[in-house]
Amino acid sequence: MDSFRSKENLNRFESIFGKTKQPPRLFQAPARINIIGEHVDYLGGTVLPAAIDFAVQVYLRPNDTSSYNLYSVTYNETVELRKPLLPNPKSSWTDYIAGVIVEVEKKGHIVPGFDLLVDGNIPQGSGLSSSAAFEVVTGYAIKETFGLPISREEIALIGQRAENHFVGTKCGIMDQFIIAVGRKDDCISLNTDTLQYSYHHFDLGDSEFYLINSNVKHSLKDSAYNQRRSECESALAKIQTKFPNFTHLYDVNLSDVQIGECHLTNEERKRTKHVTSERERTKIVIEGLESGNFKDVGSALFETHWSLSKEFEVSCPETDFIVDSLQSLGVTGARMIGGGFGGCVLVLDMKDHFSKIDAVLKKSYQQKFNLEIDFYKFHISDGVKEISI
Ligand code: GLA
Repeated sequence: MDSFRSKENLNRFESIFGKTKQPPRLFQAPARINIIGEHVDYLGGTVLPAAIDFAVQVYLRPNDTSSYNLYSVTYNETVELRKPLLPNPKSSWTDYIAGVIVEVEKKGHIVPGFDLLVDGNIPQGSGLSSSAAFEVVTGYAIKETFGLPISREEIALIGQRAENHFVGTKCGIMDQFIIAVGRKDDCISLNTDTLQYSYHHFDLGDSEFYLINSNVKHSLKDSAYNQRRSECESALAKIQTKFPNFTHLYDVNLSDVQIGECHLTNEERKRTKHVTSERERTKIVIEGLESGNFKDVGSALFETHWSLSKEFEVSCPETDFIVDSLQSLGVTGARMIGGGFGGCVLVLDMKDHFSKIDAVLKKSYQQKFNLEIDFYKFHISDGVKEISI
């Protein structure tokens, strides 16, 4: 979306904040998909995300004051923030910016006052990480504008901390990381324990990935996301009392009998089952994408979906219906992505099969839930960057 309302927003910026000799600079961060490795990025697991061409854009210009003057196109609202920066329940969209400023300053940098306009086309609450994109684009714009020596990887960590400490979701590192380091046409495999990562290029040939938005809006903050995380942490703590060598739930490779000796609750046992079985599916997907064995990739995607639904319990009737219908319609693979409780389904299928899916599914979904679904075709795109204007 390089030219996404850019001219219009520049005019808006200047009419709200005034025209000066120094024009604002424009920065953009993408949305993300995650091919495999769901709900493992806060447990030391491996994830396989890619940046996609939906985006949040920010115009930023220093204002030589100590105020942060912010305008959101989506909310058509101007807010002035001054220190001390605190969560703002009346206009919570400003928390993403305030949280990032606070985290940048915790690293010992000073963030002078600025004027900022934000706009975007990532559907909110759809599991495509609009919040992480907002955090990363803000961090990157601050770093570039004020010449701060912060790496892309650190920008990702700053964004995650803003989300954890300021916004209140105890998310992992996956979203902010891929949005910071993503590269056109590549996904990455990221070890969320060591933060080592590598780029992978896959030729999908006659197949394609696309997204289906269930239009069930999730809010990770209000959902059971933090609860899932603490169930996983308590499961690990119990396992460690008997098997102290495990430092991450993701690495646990015990038999059912051994797990039975750890006195897990039913929930803790189910969460552990999802997390540890995701390890094997991730290997299958990486190998399958490399060798072109998309059938195996697709089966692993379906398995992950049902594991997220039945064991991790982060799906919902609407996304289950979509995946179940796609399975009956014979697509190669599909699963919910992101935090869950609604949002998008990622589909892998033959390109020429799409015309047999969209109308049928739209109709049956509408009949069952009285809700529209949206189909998104996308390209794998670059991570956060400056756009020349
Ligand atoms: C959300 C979080 C991520 C990750 C996914 C689930 O997108 O922000 O850190 O935990 O859910 O894999």
